Amino acid sequence: DNLLLINHAKLMYQKSWNGGKEYMVSALFRYLDLDGDGFLQREELQKITKQDKLDDISDVCVMSDMIRFEDMDKDGRLGLNEFYAAFSKLYSLSVVTLEKALEINRISAKVGDNVEIRCDVSGNPPPPIVWKRYSADLTTLGDEDLRVFSDGSLYLTKIQLVHAGNYTCRALRNSEVTQTHVLTVHTLPEVKVTPRIQSRRPSEKTSMFCHVIGEPFPEVVWLKNEERLKLDMVHKYRVVGNGTELSIDNIDYADTGAYMCQASNTGGVTRDISSLIVQEILTPTAPKEERRFFAFHDWGVSVYEPTACRLYHQIQSTDIIPGTQEYVCGDKGVNCSWGQAINVANRYVYVSQPLKDRVLVISKIQMVVVDVVITDKYPVALHYVAHLDQVWVLNWRSVYDDGVKTIQVIRDASQKRKHHTVHPEPIDGQFDLVRNLFMPTAQDLSHWFKYGYVSHSNQRGLYKLDLANMRYIRSIDLSPYNCVPRNLQFSSLYGFVIIECEEPGTGHATGQVILDYLTDTVVNKKASVRGSPLVSPDSRVVVSIDKAADGITLVVQQVLESGLKFSFDVKTTLMISDIAFYPSRTTHGYDLYASAADKEDILFLNLSNGKVEMITGVGKAMLQSLTQWGNPNRPIAASGIFGHYMVTPADEALFVINGETRTVNCEIGGLVHPRLVTWVTMQLQ
Ligand SMILES: *[C@@H]1O[C@H](CO)[C@@H](O)[C@H](O)[C@H]1NC(C)=O
Ligand SMILES: *[C@@H]1O[C@H](CO)[C@@H](O)[C@H](O)[C@H]1NC(C)=O
Ligand SMILES: *[C@@H]1O[C@H](CO)[C@@H](O)[C@H](O)[C@H]1NC(C)=O
Ligand SMILES: *[C@@H]1O[C@H](CO)[C@@H](O)[C@H](O)[C@H]1NC(C)=O
Repeated sequence: DNLLLINHAKLMYQKSWNGGKEYMVSALFRYLDLDGDGFLQREELQKITKQDKLDDISDVCVMSDMIRFEDMDKDGRLGLNEFYAAFSKLYSLSVVTLEKALEINRISAKVGDNVEIRCDVSGNPPPPIVWKRYSADLTTLGDEDLRVFSDGSLYLTKIQLVHAGNYTCRALRNSEVTQTHVLTVHTLPEVKVTPRIQSRRPSEKTSMFCHVIGEPFPEVVWLKNEERLKLDMVHKYRVVGNGTELSIDNIDYADTGAYMCQASNTGGVTRDISSLIVQEILTPTAPKEERRFFAFHDWGVSVYEPTACRLYHQIQSTDIIPGTQEYVCGDKGVNCSWGQAINVANRYVYVSQPLKDRVLVISKIQMVVVDVVITDKYPVALHYVAHLDQVWVLNWRSVYDDGVKTIQVIRDASQKRKHHTVHPEPIDGQFDLVRNLFMPTAQDLSHWFKYGYVSHSNQRGLYKLDLANMRYIRSIDLSPYNCVPRNLQFSSLYGFVIIECEEPGTGHATGQVILDYLTDTVVNKKASVRGSPLVSPDSRVVVSIDKAADGITLVVQQVLESGLKFSFDVKTTLMISDIAFYPSRTTHGYDLYASAADKEDILFLNLSNGKVEMITGVGKAMLQSLTQWGNPNRPIAASGIFGHYMVTPADEALFVINGETRTVNCEIGGLVHPRLVTWVTMQLQ
């Protein structure tokens, strides 16, 4: 009591004085804690006694006796909470407590769950509670899926993989007692096999393939007619790459059956069936689906099938768009100019025509233009947000990238109707004119990304966009990291945002910054990792392409719960133009193919061991000077899971590459400057 009285006078003059005893006790604690380590040691108390002449503060006690009587955990020093407890014997101070066993609380949840997390930090009276993720206070986040209730508990709705991670809670006025809740999020495995059905003759051999997605990554086994395969049968079964492939040798009639690829993890068990029929006379089994690709070139659009390289359809630049009086590109002699093409819900292909201020909507089935969407000047980049059925358009407003662009949104993009654009709500005066729009790309682990980001020229920061409401919700200051975002990618696993940074003004690369997607707190700064990042479709690998003057380096990092971890890097003299992730047949992950801007080579990079191979003879690339709208001069596009092929355009031809044999499947000639390729999947009867 005397101690408080003596200090009262001193503290009254402090700025943040709010009169409360709790405040006074905590201020006193800070005053006594000379070395600022959060604990009061005997020496500190002795020193203060001498310095402030506190010897006669009591007839029977000296200051350091506090340690004798109040050191509850017997560690020879006093923590803030112990200090509070001491004073609470005199006044009704809120002393917060947390059982040692509850300091770390592990919680496991499934995607889609709602979870309420109680804070076990308690006190009498109950103290106000603060919830944090990294350093961000969750009450100020304004995310309706992450709410702090007045009773001090945290409520997470519709949990996604990005919600995994640590949440801490503590009393508002006591930072010493903190509880950490470690949330892991799992998914039900997804399993797909191919072929679904096949027939074989006795003594032949065959293979079936299985692609598995899940977090944590599932255990994969093969069964036949509900029973685990006996893999010790020599010359019969062979399981490759963690169950990605099952091969069966020396087929006999007994091998007829339903083969199941089964994946299990904490989220559950999922199976898919591949049937094998053994018979002397084969029943032809037609494939159920077929992939095709749309190639956009100077004279129009051509649609091909990649196995036999058959041309399905052509839209000429001089065709009239049905229902209008307008040319697809123009009258004779006018070349097409294409910005970007995307697949929308596997129903339409949207392609931007920057010089015509419009986006064409092409039906996948009829292969004709079914709608024309008028946009602002020079529409270039297109992004499809599947769960909201929106196409976001980035308009350059000029033939050059001047760093002042507008954003528009086409809603109900996959619906059969006349489409229009709307502008997102401008909040900040500058929001209308952005340098770049960064949108999440579709990933295997189907995640509903709620936010995108925009950047402004030379600004060290980002604005976060609420996609559903099409409005800006927050600004993120990256000036402490000297980071003007140049590129940005999202990982659905653990929710990281990977930013390639440059210095304002000079544009020099300043490394990568990793943000937490939920709170936008900087988790990590990696000055040494340069280059534009690309996240693999399974979200487990980030490949950065660092184009330095002395050659290109591919930096491969793994996505882990704790952040990004360097795996390896590969240097190449090839001037890389574009890359494609190709599903691996020996792991459930992906490998990488990269096209070259100047050589007739394709680079293959095995992402599990870093080995490189070359595919040669893929034709001369289009001159770099002929590229438009920031597109690579030599794109490369893969066709997704179980798709065997990739397409890469050369100057006057398309090369179809078989990713399994790593050979050229065919060369399709007679095209002028194919610039863009988009894959679609056709359902066949
Ligand atoms: C095989 O799967 C297990 C998980 O079930 C994983 O730990 C292991 O690394 C995988 N091995 C390879 C070669 O991918
Ligand atoms: C169209 O492209 C060809 C090359 O394919 C070029 O010779 C011609 O000048 C271009 N036409 C126009 C109007 O730009
Ligand atoms: C989360 O908390 C646990 C337990 O304190 C700790 O081991 C882990 O490193 C933390 N993870 C992160 C990403 O901070
Ligand atoms: C990639 O490397 C792994 C590990 O060495 C190997 O098992 C696999 O066959 C390689 N994949 C390809 C496609 O070469």
